[in-house]
Formats: sequence, structure tokens, C-alpha cells
Amino acid sequence: MCFGSGFLSCTWLGSMLMTVPLSPPAPRASPAHMLERLLSEGMTWGDSAQWLPALPTESVDLWFTSPPYADARAYSRIHPDRYVEWFLPYSQSMLSATRDTGWLVLNIKNRVAKSGPLQGQRHPYVYQLVIALQQQGWRWLETYIWSKPNAVPGRFGPRTKDSFEYVYAFAKGPKPYFDLNAIRVPYKTTPEEIERRKLDKLGRRNTDAGFGRDRTTTYLHGGADPGNVVSVPQTYNQYKGAGGHTAAMPEGLAEFFVNSCSPPGAVVLDPFAGSGTTPVVARRLGRRAGGLEIHKSFVDTARQRLCADEPDDTPVLIELAELAR
Ligand SMILES: C[S@@+](CC[C@H](N)C(=O)[O-])C[C@H]1O[C@@H](n2cnc3c(N)ncnc32)[C@H](O)[C@@H]1O
Repeated sequence: MCFGSGFLSCTWLGSMLMTVPLSPPAPRASPAHMLERLLSEGMTWGDSAQWLPALPTESVDLWFTSPPYADARAYSRIHPDRYVEWFLPYSQSMLSATRDTGWLVLNIKNRVAKSGPLQGQRHPYVYQLVIALQQQGWRWLETYIWSKPNAVPGRFGPRTKDSFEYVYAFAKGPKPYFDLNAIRVPYKTTPEEIERRKLDKLGRRNTDAGFGRDRTTTYLHGGADPGNVVSVPQTYNQYKGAGGHTAAMPEGLAEFFVNSCSPPGAVVLDPFAGSGTTPVVARRLGRRAGGLEIHKSFVDTARQRLCADEPDDTPVLIELAELAR
């Protein structure tokens, strides 16, 4: 038998009274203590709507997150028409808690409208959100494409399967931290050719169209610029600790942005942390990291995942991504 408001009191084994909170406890501490708690716990059971406004100003280097997509999952149903209105209070709080050199990096996917005048068409909520974030004061610096070489086939109507998602990178200030060297990929040419090109002293060569590359510097960096299409296979919850989370992102995606958008030792937070991919990866990479998640069961399994710290993306899938480059 259950009753009560805000708390669920259940009679168990006849004599034992258990009290199970229905919603996460509201945070109560100074802003600095709250941040320290997030970083020390790694995964915290909490509602970001309550936590984010209470964090210290200019304390976070990187928010890397995949919020609930519009109308997508059983765990949070946000209608696409109301998505921007739902998200803006979170992003406003994140903006004030971000350092001048910091970022909000948002993985999100658009969807096909299920009803209304746009039924059957792509709903524009993602683009509306990007414009609203820019108007809120975030500097929209890049749109990355997360390409999924192993996207599942299905029945999608008069279109192909979804094989990419967006990752939007917003900076707070004009000089965000960015380390291209941390995400370079192997050059495509042979080692002999690289050595030959390093000796090229002719500098920039323009084509008839006026474009050119300065080959004297291209091959001195130890690797190539990966570009803004990031190919990482979806892992389909292969990680046994993901606790059945239906939207866990692959670790390789988090690695790319943690490595490039935050220095070692930086504060990295995920306000919609799900199975904990962001804090798991960021901690592994030497950042101070924490995640907030509103569903307690996800928090419990994410904490086990943090403790186990087993790399999730399997080698065979990483090879698949290499082939797709
Ligand atoms: C797309 S999932 C994130 C998945 C995550 N990137 C991972 O790799 O597992 C979004 C998560 O946000 C959580 N969430 C939704 N609203 C929240 C809120 N107000 N505070 C904290 N978490 C929230 C949902 O329960 C869900 O687990």
C-alpha cells in the first residue's frame, strides 16, 4: 500500500516501513560545495533544473551532453513544439556557470513530426534551438556531424535510415580553449610520402580555382585535422553497465570533445548524464567530471560503471569507424 505526497511510503514484510523518495532531493549547500559534490560523486541523483542555477559562476570548462531529444523516449517526453522553451532555462544557467574559455557541446538529433501541420516532415526544433541559444548569448562556433557507420536499418518512410546526429559546439567567450593536436588522426598517405612532403620548400600552391595548401607545414603536426564529421560507431548498449539505458552514446564521441574542448584537470559536467558516459570518459582522460541524472536507477548503474571504468567501444567497432573515414 502506498500513500503520501512527495514520498512513497510502503509497508514491507508486515512490520517494516520504507520511505522511497519519488523525486531527487533538492540540493542544499553553498555553490562551491555543490560543485565539489558533483565532482566527487561522479554521478549525482538530481534534477538539473534545480542544480544548474545553484552552481558557482564561471566554474565549468565544458558541458558535454546529450539532452533528451524531443518526444523520443519513455524517460522524458518533451513535445518538439515546446522543446526550445523547455531547454532555455537550463542553457541560461549553464551559461552563467561556464568559464570564459568554456563550452557547451550539445549532441542532438532532429525527428520526423508525428502529427500537426508538419506531420511526416522533419521538425525544425533543433535549428530553432540553435538560433535561440545563439540569441541567448552562446557563440555558435561549429556544427559537427556524428556519423554512425553502423546505423541500424529500418522503415523510415520516403527517406534513408538515420545515420548521423548533430553535435553543436557553443563557446561562451571569444577565445575558447581548443586543442586540435589532441584529436589529430593519422595522415592518409604513406610514411615515405610524408617525409618527402616535409621537405617541400615551395610553400602554398594555388590551383586554377585559387585554392591551395601549404605543404611545408601540413605534415609537421604529427597527424591530420580530423574535420568536422566525426565517425564513431553506435554501441547499442553493449556496455553491460549501461543499465539498459536506451540512449547511451559511444565513448569515442565523448573522447573527441573532451580531448579537444577541455584541458587536463578541467571541470567537465553533463547535466543529462544517463548511463554516465561523459563522466566516465572525462575522468579517464584526467578531467574532474560529474553528471546529473534525474532517474535514480540510471545513477546507480552509472556509479557502478564509473567504478569499473572499462572501455566500452569495442575494437572491432573502432576499426569499422577507421574504415569509414
Ligand atoms: C539522451 S539521455 C543521455 C544519455 C547519456 N549521454 C549516456 O551516454 O548515457 C538524457 C538523460 O537526461 C535525463 N534527464 C532528463 N531531464 C533531466 C533533468 N531535469 N535533470 C537530470 N537529468 C535529466 C534523462 O533521464 C536521460 O537519462
